[in-house]
Amino acid sequence: MLSKADNQLLTQTDSGTPMGDLFRRYWIPVANSEELIADGKPQRIRLLGEDLVAFRDTKGDVGLVDERCPHRGTSLYYGINDGCGLRCMYHGWKFDTNGDCVEIPSEEEDGKFRKSIKLKNYPIQEAGGVIWTYMGPAEAEPPLPDFHWLGLSRENKLIERVWQECNYAQAMENDLDFVHAAFLHRAHGEQELTSEGVLSSDLGIDPDHPLVKNPPVKQAVQDTNYGKRCVAVGIGNETENAFMEIHYIFPFYTYPPRFAGEDGMWHAFIPRDDNSTWVWDVQFSHDREIDVQAQHDRRGLTLDEDLRKYKNLENEYDQDRLLQKEGNFTGIRGIANQDHAATETMGPIVDRSIERLGTSDLPVIQMRRLLLRQVKAFQKDQEPMQLENASLRTLLSEGLYDDNQKTWQEAFPLKERFEKKKEVKS
Ligand code: FES
Ligand SMILES: [Fe+2]
Repeated sequence: MLSKADNQLLTQTDSGTPMGDLFRRYWIPVANSEELIADGKPQRIRLLGEDLVAFRDTKGDVGLVDERCPHRGTSLYYGINDGCGLRCMYHGWKFDTNGDCVEIPSEEEDGKFRKSIKLKNYPIQEAGGVIWTYMGPAEAEPPLPDFHWLGLSRENKLIERVWQECNYAQAMENDLDFVHAAFLHRAHGEQELTSEGVLSSDLGIDPDHPLVKNPPVKQAVQDTNYGKRCVAVGIGNETENAFMEIHYIFPFYTYPPRFAGEDGMWHAFIPRDDNSTWVWDVQFSHDREIDVQAQHDRRGLTLDEDLRKYKNLENEYDQDRLLQKEGNFTGIRGIANQDHAATETMGPIVDRSIERLGTSDLPVIQMRRLLLRQVKAFQKDQEPMQLENASLRTLLSEGLYDDNQKTWQEAFPLKERFEKKKEVKS
């Protein structure tokens, strides 16, 4: 449970809000590299309540600029992308990827007026098949976080960006919730999986998988140098327990639980605005090509051009009551659809002042606390938490089976390189 004031602090991310300004101090995935082609159609991308346009110019450079033309406000999304710039369709003003105005056809060429025109733009880096931006003050720009999957070859990854119709915080809370898998994602029968490494079918997760078999009742959360490590212990088989982990990487990235042999998964929850989120899903395999079709099928999302779901709240996610009796717990096909249904039906911003949290909500509570503690310190001019690339590079979710007589600390300790350094009090 949170006070109404803390709920507001947690969920509001427009420019000028405390959480919005804190989030602007971290690198944000904007679009899949393949979404933008040189001199191709620009993309309209709302981020943290700001209406932006992304385009790739003739040279291949990417610009992320204000959607609104500085002349009289026409949308640059409709503009002409060629000759190393984006030209407004109204009076032909043209801008490059740095937001500099390079041509005003109706003005004298001398450039004084033209040079005084600047289109808001944000820096871009491209890495791992993703276009990233940083929306904070230039002097505080951190290095791009070097997530493990960035270095894998393109064939080993499926990268998907989806528009989710709720606030980022409740979408992200779902990812730190071990217990929901045993219900929301439970398939009633054994699942025939089409490919090695794939966790589930579109019905859900096999009832015998440790994530589903018994909802883990033992959970712990540890402070780390990237955020929080959430650990759960479930029943594996007669002699072994399944030890699972979720990594919460401050402030909006996660690695959900995975076991050896399963494809890895990374998520990011980027506020589109306060009522909607860009949810990023990267499925990756370490040593083989990813089965893109199998991963798409199990996630079960069908998206329109704007990356919104065809199955949604309006059509009740195509819930099938017979399937609910016979096929899976929800009657909804697709793991990702199931997650979206659970979090979107809460309403766009859930009222955390009336919720009733149990012991199973420990990771959610800890994540909120860290965010609120950091944002309150940030309001008092303290620098926010820095991510360390030496640590991120090797971070993954690595569930394992071990003797059920062992404690989780014995079987599944935190690796030393992820330990949080003790704060030195002066
Ligand atoms: S409004 Fe864009 S050029 Fe006039
Ligand atoms: Fe889920």
